[in-house]
Amino acid sequence: MKILTVVGARPQFIKAAPVSAALAKAGLQEYLLHTGQHYDRAMSAVFFEELGLRPPDLNLEVGSASHGEQTAAMLVGIERALVTQRPDWVLVYGDTNSTLAGALAASKLHLPLAHVEAGLRSFNRRMPEEINRVVADAVADLLFVPTEIARRNLQQEGLPAERIVWTGDVMYDVALGFRGAAGERSRILDRLGLAPSGYVLATVHRAENTDEPARLDAIVAGLAAVARKLPVVLPLHPRTRGCVQARGLSLEGIHLLEPLGFLDMVRLEMSAAVIATDSGGVQKEAFFHRVPCVTLRDETEWVELVEAGWNRLCPPRDPELVASTILAAAGTAGQPIAPYGDGHAADLIAARLQSQAAR
Ligand code: UD1
Ligand code: UDP
Repeated sequence: MKILTVVGARPQFIKAAPVSAALAKAGLQEYLLHTGQHYDRAMSAVFFEELGLRPPDLNLEVGSASHGEQTAAMLVGIERALVTQRPDWVLVYGDTNSTLAGALAASKLHLPLAHVEAGLRSFNRRMPEEINRVVADAVADLLFVPTEIARRNLQQEGLPAERIVWTGDVMYDVALGFRGAAGERSRILDRLGLAPSGYVLATVHRAENTDEPARLDAIVAGLAAVARKLPVVLPLHPRTRGCVQARGLSLEGIHLLEPLGFLDMVRLEMSAAVIATDSGGVQKEAFFHRVPCVTLRDETEWVELVEAGWNRLCPPRDPELVASTILAAAGTAGQPIAPYGDGHAADLIAARLQSQAAR
């Protein structure tokens, strides 16, 4: 049985790593297609190396462009690969343009499609990710949901129960698998002169924040205000770097870094006093390492973390509120919950795909 996996953006390399390993262990053949949506070494190659994901069989090298142009280039390349490879299943992850292109190309060719991290919803259709995930879920034959809330979202949209398979979250598999290596191999705390629990880690890359001047200004000024009390470390996504430069914003006082490799990132997450982010993956990683999180958005897909008190929403409108919310989160903890499974989501995904072969 042959699986064709479509990845393209940083979080997808991370999610694919445990699943690829589990597919290989189950004796399933995998063809790994990289769309080239992310291409800088720090946004792509470093994850293949650090997470032990084998190099892609094909890289379409589509690069950056508008949504339409980028997705169209991916569709052309993925369709060609699907026609040549004729996989038994196509596997897509998350909610990026690479997810959308993989899902559309597979469904038009009537190839069975499985979606990992299905059922997440922000209920905000202005987010490109929301459109991508709603479309991918609508055309998928197997919907691997990370949480019970994700299952409920799909049921409420009328998707057939037999397509929905709860697996837990593959990112939890990754967190458990790489915590030890990050602790042993990363030297980032020493390199930056940071004390455990003595700094704030921040990431910002959502279009709704970077492309809205008032929101980006509030985030930058809010982080600068925090930095007057506690060191702030900000590995900067290239999208954000471009927008900050274009607006001439000052990031003085903030430890500005290039995008980090995974082990350094996890090491910083593990010992942060607070994590402030608009990333989906980083919100969950904060919880995996039991670090309080402030989400710089109006809503989140990972509502269980907000309900349990591990995460709080702070729509970035007012710099003072951004700063005070981040500082107030330090030292807090939420309720004990375990919504993401037991760290074997990838094995459950591989087992389910393997069982499809026998049908
Ligand atoms: C994409 C996803 C988002 C995901 C994020 C993970 C979509 C619509 N968005 O957002 O859901 O959370 O990836 O990081 O798919 N750039 C570089 N080098 C790179 C990649 C990008 O410089 O290797 C710059 C380019 O200027 C590009 C911009 O970043 O235009 C945005 O990249 P893009 O992939 O379009 O969106 P992301 O913001 O990365
Ligand atoms: N990440 C990383 N280096 C960084 C920033 C993020 O390794 O400089 C990792 C992070 O630990 C998480 C994933 O990238 O596993 C999240 O990706 P991102 O925030 O780009 O996308 P999202 O999860 O919001 O789709």
